[in-house]
Amino acid sequence: MDNALGLKTLDAGLEDYYRLSPDNLDDRIAAAKSRLADRLLLLGHNYQRDEVYKFADYTGDSLKLSQYAAQQRDREYIVFCGVKFMAETADILTPPEQKVILPDLAAGCSMADMADIEAVETAWQEITRFIPESTITPITYINSAANLKAFCGEQGGLVCTSTNAEKIIRWAFERREKILFFPDQHLGRNTCKRMGIPLNEMVLWDPALPNGGNSSEAIRKARVFLWQGFCSVHQMFQPQHVDLFRKQYPGIKVIVHPECSMEVADQSDLIGSTEYIIRTVTAAPAGSRWAVGTELNLVNRLKRDNPDKEVFFLSPMVCMCSTMFRIDAPHLLWSLERLEAGSIVNQIIVPEADRTWAKVALERMLQLA
Ligand code: 13P
Ligand code: SF4
Repeated sequence: MDNALGLKTLDAGLEDYYRLSPDNLDDRIAAAKSRLADRLLLLGHNYQRDEVYKFADYTGDSLKLSQYAAQQRDREYIVFCGVKFMAETADILTPPEQKVILPDLAAGCSMADMADIEAVETAWQEITRFIPESTITPITYINSAANLKAFCGEQGGLVCTSTNAEKIIRWAFERREKILFFPDQHLGRNTCKRMGIPLNEMVLWDPALPNGGNSSEAIRKARVFLWQGFCSVHQMFQPQHVDLFRKQYPGIKVIVHPECSMEVADQSDLIGSTEYIIRTVTAAPAGSRWAVGTELNLVNRLKRDNPDKEVFFLSPMVCMCSTMFRIDAPHLLWSLERLEAGSIVNQIIVPEADRTWAKVALERMLQLA
């Protein structure tokens, strides 16, 4: 809710929840959950803070959570502890009688906001002035608004996540010669590079410039158009951080999320989604050392859950996803107790105009995944 100055204020009634002690919040969340029982499904992304994560019925990365949401048919309410694009995805993949709730509507994703439908449609028109539309597939990272997923669905494209980007890009190249990949340049570049596509066949598309800042010749030649978007959290990891750990702890394994820059990804031993990172470190032998390049809440949990290993955060800076962090215990409790009282707060409803094609784009991905 905004005040007269346009500043964010707490939603009505929420202030009281901030006066509760952590124990009190825990008790009341547990009680509300047990009263809502089978009417409720609580999903938690791997970046969620512990005070919320520990209450999730099911946790995971974007792919796992979207697959899980798609299978649920019996829960009246899906409370999504994550960010807006994840709740939108759950809403698209579930029938209208299931209500999806995001405990704080300000939990967005700064990377997702770097591409909007007007800019992507402009880019599409500019690119297809030089090459036929039938030769290019649009692919959107799941970290994007529903109308961009709809755009991809309608244009014969699809969605990808950090887990399946390679499979999705391969599928696209089996059908058409070129791809437009948005909004994360790093996931696009890291994946295409690992598939053997040379850097000189990829161009960066800056939506602020005519033709994305590219010459007509560069557009005709390119196989991959990479949107100039990035994750403000993962851009904090630098190649010199990898160097420092390797010098200090010879033999250490470096594992990073593919939203990190190519310079960091190229120096790492392993690269993958949040779920892949958790699985890999958890399965590693006792005594092994790991430097992990992804969000801080996840890395702190990994440290705590793996006391037989040494787990380090790859950056000396605090790299936390401030929007994921917005979902806290007071917001969670508030949304659950409002549900119990019969009032649905912060429901995420994707407009019908976007839902149909966005679902096509997501289902194309889920079939391949
Ligand atoms: P995952 O799909 O790996 O969970 O990543 C989502 C995300 O937003 C990472 O920043
Ligand atoms: Fe978005 Fe980055 Fe936060 Fe992931 S970590 S939700 S990409 S801002």
